[in-house]
Amino acid sequence: MKTLWLFIIIVTTSSAHNFLDIVKNYIHSPEKDEKFTSNSKYDFIIIGAGSAGSVLANRLSENKKWRILLLEAGYMPNFFNRIPIFVGYFQLTGYNWGYNIEPQKNACLGMKNRQCSWPRGRGLGGTSILNYMIHTRGNKFDYDQWASLGNGGWSYVDVLPYFKKSERFNVPGFKNSSYHNENGNLCVEHVPYHTKLATTFLNAGQELGYKIVDYNGQDQKGFSYIQVNINHGKRCTGATAYLEQINRPNLEIITGARVTKILIDADKRAYGVEYIKDTIWKNVTCSKEVLLSAGTIDSAKLLMLSGIGPKEHLEELNIPVIQDSKVGYNMYEHIGFLGLTFMVNQSESLLQSRLFNPKLFLEYLLYKRGPISIPGGAEALAFIRTKYAPDERPDVELLFVSGSLHSDNGQVLKRALRLSEDLYDAIYKPIEEQDAWSIWPIVQYPRSVGRLTLRSKDPFEPPKMDPNFFSHPADIEIILEGIKHAINISKTKAFQAYGSRLHDLKIPGCKQFEFASDDYWRCAIKHLPSMMNHEIGTVKMGPQTDTYAVVDPQLKVYGIKTLRVVDASIMPAIPSGHVNAGIYMIGEKAADMIKQSWKGELY
Ligand SMILES: Cc1cc2nc3c(=O)[nH]c(=O)nc-3n(C[C@H](O)[C@H](O)[C@H](O)COP(=O)(O)OP(=O)(O)OC[C@H]3O[C@@H](n4cnc5c(N)ncnc54)[C@H](O)[C@@H]3O)c2cc1C
Ligand SMILES: *[C@@H]1O[C@H](CO)[C@@H](O)[C@H](O)[C@H]1NC(C)=O
Ligand SMILES: *[C@@H]1O[C@H](CO)[C@@H](O)[C@H](O)[C@H]1NC(C)=O
Ligand SMILES: *[C@@H]1O[C@H](CO)[C@@H](O)[C@H](O)[C@H]1NC(C)=O
Ligand SMILES: *[C@@H]1O[C@H](CO)[C@@H](O)[C@H](O)[C@H]1NC(C)=O
Repeated sequence: MKTLWLFIIIVTTSSAHNFLDIVKNYIHSPEKDEKFTSNSKYDFIIIGAGSAGSVLANRLSENKKWRILLLEAGYMPNFFNRIPIFVGYFQLTGYNWGYNIEPQKNACLGMKNRQCSWPRGRGLGGTSILNYMIHTRGNKFDYDQWASLGNGGWSYVDVLPYFKKSERFNVPGFKNSSYHNENGNLCVEHVPYHTKLATTFLNAGQELGYKIVDYNGQDQKGFSYIQVNINHGKRCTGATAYLEQINRPNLEIITGARVTKILIDADKRAYGVEYIKDTIWKNVTCSKEVLLSAGTIDSAKLLMLSGIGPKEHLEELNIPVIQDSKVGYNMYEHIGFLGLTFMVNQSESLLQSRLFNPKLFLEYLLYKRGPISIPGGAEALAFIRTKYAPDERPDVELLFVSGSLHSDNGQVLKRALRLSEDLYDAIYKPIEEQDAWSIWPIVQYPRSVGRLTLRSKDPFEPPKMDPNFFSHPADIEIILEGIKHAINISKTKAFQAYGSRLHDLKIPGCKQFEFASDDYWRCAIKHLPSMMNHEIGTVKMGPQTDTYAVVDPQLKVYGIKTLRVVDASIMPAIPSGHVNAGIYMIGEKAADMIKQSWKGELY
C-alpha cells in the first residue's frame, strides 16, 4: 500500500513538473514585464484571463501585427486542478476570490450568518478552474430572446457558428451533427466513467417517457450524461484550451497583476489601465481598445471604480462620475435545492472514503479514467418542463449527483457551502459513510433579480452582492415542482432496484412542518438553496432604448470610447443550463466583432 502511494506521488509530481515548464514559456518574469510595459504601447489590453478573456487573447493575437496584453490577478493553477474529482477542494484555496453574498431574508437560512458563498476563480482560466465543467449551451430560444430584446446579431442562428467554433466535440453518438464541430479549442466529451446510479438515472428517465438527448443539439428536453469540458479525463479550462496551446510573441501575459482602474481621458476614451503587481503600481496604455473580462462581479466593480455607474451611488462614495449608467443592476443567478438525498441499499455511490483508494488513483494517473475522472459527483442531468412552464422551453434542470452533502464526511462541501454546523450535524452527520444519490432541481429562468454595489472606493474591498433570492415567490414554486418530479424519478423501477428511499431527517428550522409536505419543501428550499454560481447581467447588453443597458450589441460601453466588456456580465437574460459554454461563445463572437471594427485600419 505504501509503495503504491509513493509511486503515485512520483508520477503526479513528475507530470506537474512538465506542466509547469510549458507554462513558464509564456508567463513573464517580473523583469521582463518591466522592460516591456515601460516603453511600449499595446494595441489591446485585456483585463482578466477567465473563460472569455482567454478566448479574446487567443483570437486577437492571431493577428501578428497586434500586440496584446493580458492582465490576470491570479496565477497558473497546479496539476491537481486537472483532476476532476478534486473540483470542490479548489474553492477552499487562494484560487477562489472567496466572496459571500449579503445575508438573505428568504434564502441561505441553513448557511452561516444566512450568507451563501459565491466562489469566483482567480488564476489563468478564471472561474473555469473552479467549475464543474458541465457544458450546456442553453435553449435556442434563450438567444432568440436576446435578439428580440433588440440585440441584433445574437439570435441562435447568429451565435451557433461561434458555439461550434469554440468546441472540439467528441461525444459518441452525437458527433455527426450540424450542431457540432470537432476542430475547436474547447474539449467537450462525456466523463470517461459512469456509476451504475448515473445509468439508472437515464433508465429512469426513459421509464417515465423521456428521451436520451444531445441537449446541445436539436432538442434540449430529455435526459443525458453530462457533456463536460474534459480532455481524456483531464479538466479543460479557458487557459488550457486557449492559452496553453499558443506561444506567440505578440501576446504578453502578466499574472499576479490586479487592475484597480480603467484610465479614461477627458474625451471619454479608455486609453489604459492602472494595476498593482507585487506591491508596485503601474499604468499601462494601449492604442486601440481596453477589453474588460473580469467576470460578472469584478467587471461591474471595475467600471464603477473607474467612474462608470449609477450617478447617485458613485457620488455617495466620492467617485467622480464619468458616465451615468445602470452598472450592477439586472443580476441573475440560477438557484435550486441541495437537500434531496435518496438512500440506497448497494455500495454504488461516490463516498470519499471509498475514492481515496490508491488503486483508483493509479488507474486515473495511468489511464485517465475511473471514478477519479468524475467532476465532484455530478454525472447526468435532465431538462424538463413543469406545469408552470410558460413556453416550450424546459423550466427546470434536474442535476444528478451520485452522492450527497455527507459523502465527504463534512470535509469539503460543508465548508465550501458555509453549511451551519447545526444543520449538518442534524441531517448529514447521521448518514456519513452511507450510500446515497441526489437530484438538485434548479429553476432555469429565475424571476428574482439582484444588484451589485460598491462598499467603498477602495479597490481591495469586495463589493456588496445581493441576489435577493426568492424575492419573487414563483422561483420557490418552480423548484418545488422540480422536487416532485425528482421524487417520481426515485420511484421508478430502475431506482427501486436499489431500494431508493428519501432521506427523511428534518432540517432544523423546518420541524414545524410535516415532512415532505409542500410547506416543508418551501421551508427546506429556503434553508438549503443550491447556488449554481452562474451570476450574469450586471453590465447588461441592450439597444440604446433600453435604459438598463450598459453596453450595446457590439459590447461597447455606452458613452465611452474604445471600451468593451466581454464576459458573463453582458448577458441580458440568463440562458438555461450552465452558462460557461455561452461565455466562450461570447468571447469568440466578440473577437470577430473587434477584428471587424479594426479591419479598415492600417497598422
Ligand atoms: C463552483 C463553480 C462551479 C461551476 N460550475 C459550472 C459548470 O459546471 N458549468 C458551467 O457552464 N459553469 C459553471 N460555473 C460558472 C462558470 O465557470 C463561470 O460563469 C465562467 O467561468 C465565468 O466566465 P467569465 O469569463 O465571465 O469570468 P471569469 O472566468 O470569472 O474570469 C474573470 C477573470 O478576471 C480576473 N480578474 C478579476 N478581477 C480582476 C482584476 N481587478 N484585475 C485582474 N484580473 C482580474 C479573475 O481572477 C478571473 O481570472 C461554475 C462556477 C463555480 C464557481
Ligand atoms: C452524417 O450526416 C449526413 C447528413 O445528415 C449523412 O449524409 C451521413 O450519412 C452521416 N454520416 C454518418 C457516419 O452517420
Ligand atoms: C496612472 O494614471 C492616473 C491618471 O492619470 C494617475 O492618477 C495615477 O497616479 C497614475 N498611476 C501611476 C502608478 O502612474
Ligand atoms: C408523480 O407521479 C404521480 C403518480 O404517477 C402523478 O400523479 C404526479 O402527477 C407526478 N408528479 C409530477 C410532478 O410529475
Ligand atoms: C435493495 O432493495 C430492493 C428493493 O427493496 C431489493 O429488490 C434488492 O434486493 C435490495 N438489494 C440489496 C443488495 O439488498
